[in-house]
Amino acid sequence: FSTDLPYRVADLALAEAGRHQIRLAEREMPGLMALREEYAGRAPLAGARIAGSLHMTVQTAVLIETLVDLGAEVRWASCNIFSTQDEAAAAVVVGSGTPEDPQGVPVYAWKGESLEEYWWCTDMIFRFPAGADSVAGPNLVLDDGGDATMLLLEGAAAEAAGGVTPAGADDPAEKHVFVARVAASLVEDPTRFTRILPGMLGVSEETTTGVNRLYRLAEEGRLPFPAINVNDSVTKSKFDNRYGIRHSLPDGLNRATDVLIGGKVAVVVGYGDVGKGAAESLRGQGARVQIVEIDPICALQAAMDGYEVVRLPEAAPHADFVITTTGNTRVVPVEVLQVLKPGAVVGNVGHFDDEIDLAGLQKLPDTRITEIKPQVHEWTVGVPAESASRLGRTETSFIVLSEGRLLNLGNATGHPSFVMSASFTNQVMAQIELFARHADYTPGVHRLAKALDEKVARLHLPALGAQLSELTKEQAEYIGVDVAGPFKPEHYRY
Ligand code: NAI
Repeated sequence: FSTDLPYRVADLALAEAGRHQIRLAEREMPGLMALREEYAGRAPLAGARIAGSLHMTVQTAVLIETLVDLGAEVRWASCNIFSTQDEAAAAVVVGSGTPEDPQGVPVYAWKGESLEEYWWCTDMIFRFPAGADSVAGPNLVLDDGGDATMLLLEGAAAEAAGGVTPAGADDPAEKHVFVARVAASLVEDPTRFTRILPGMLGVSEETTTGVNRLYRLAEEGRLPFPAINVNDSVTKSKFDNRYGIRHSLPDGLNRATDVLIGGKVAVVVGYGDVGKGAAESLRGQGARVQIVEIDPICALQAAMDGYEVVRLPEAAPHADFVITTTGNTRVVPVEVLQVLKPGAVVGNVGHFDDEIDLAGLQKLPDTRITEIKPQVHEWTVGVPAESASRLGRTETSFIVLSEGRLLNLGNATGHPSFVMSASFTNQVMAQIELFARHADYTPGVHRLAKALDEKVARLHLPALGAQLSELTKEQAEYIGVDVAGPFKPEHYRY
């Protein structure tokens, strides 16, 4: 597509439907609405040009419109090819205008992008016209998973080297598409990303996987601006990752397959924040849940929470559901996929699509894939001879959701508004910190102050009817905190 396009979404006629959903979501997002009220008339983000790469859902629409309300200019792409809600994308583009005369934010996202289209969309969020500082491009990035940050840094590195040598995408299958995008940019304008870097005030990162990438960049001395790790705000990872997935995992499973969960065996790979929420929701449906872990602390937590802790190769042939939650690569290898129980449902809720080695399985000559409906595929594969007699079958077929990508966003609509309000209130605060208090942040990875974390929680309590108690002055002195908080030391784990 042309790089001149002012936006690209599935269909602007969906805007009205999207607007209704956004209106309802606003009621469920008290943190974001409170920030709009707190900063009314003050525009703390006036002059901010934010390049956003985060699932283009209804909840993200409320985030985008909050950033705009606070004065920012924004351009947006989704951070996953399947996660866009087309009606939300349309509504954000139309804004206060009409489908014929859109007045909103340039969004480049639709459900079901190809990888080439995905990287084109990510590239488009960097194409801001020159701002008051005469620099074309963003001065802030709001990222989920780190792809936008990677494009900026690898783009600039390629420009410096005069050719593409990106350390590149984590997933080799996607790497060539990414490299092609950087190469095309280099031909178009050999200093495009380099010119953006000096004015870049920082990036705020949403998720565990993106945060891991940032820490690695900082260690290698390749992070030239400050980054705020939003994921590790307590009101993000201990809420969104856990309670969000507790809601959106069964939602995805039900919409995709409608297979009864109760009584079945569900194996959850990984018992971090996301795994804990996944296990709890499956147990809540009556499944017999088993956990696979490599970290003895998390494995012990799983055992003490009453789950059986198992190894995947032994558990897989008996599992009705296998759900990956690790953010790691190839945790379900080809050998395990080949021995899955016929009819098993396999899905991933970790950030990238290489947790389940579908790419490896696809290379085997006898693998057949049948589309049941979009984002639901039946894979039929041969069982290796050494397992065939033990299992009593030479072939197995199982259901793969969202081609191994985040199933809660691909098969459903992701986390619900209320929990995303907590995450996104952290995001907005992080953007304000990076923009308005830039001098306080050195290049490297930072977290938001605990007082802000507590503020996010405080903003969400009234909506749930929760009555917070207060310390007396004597009690506060006794435990060595201020009456108004923060209430816990940095090392406290919640
Ligand atoms: P975490 O670090 O708390 O948990 C991951 C767990 O997986 C750890 O306990 C680790 O020991 C375990 N693990 C790693 N390799 C393993 C292996 N080979 N076998 C078994 N266990 C293994 O991370 P968190 O916050 O739970 O996030 C996990 C992933 O989910 C990340 O990619 C994150 O970006 C993503 N995420 C997805 C969301 C969604 O909506 N689907 C929401 C939030 C996070």
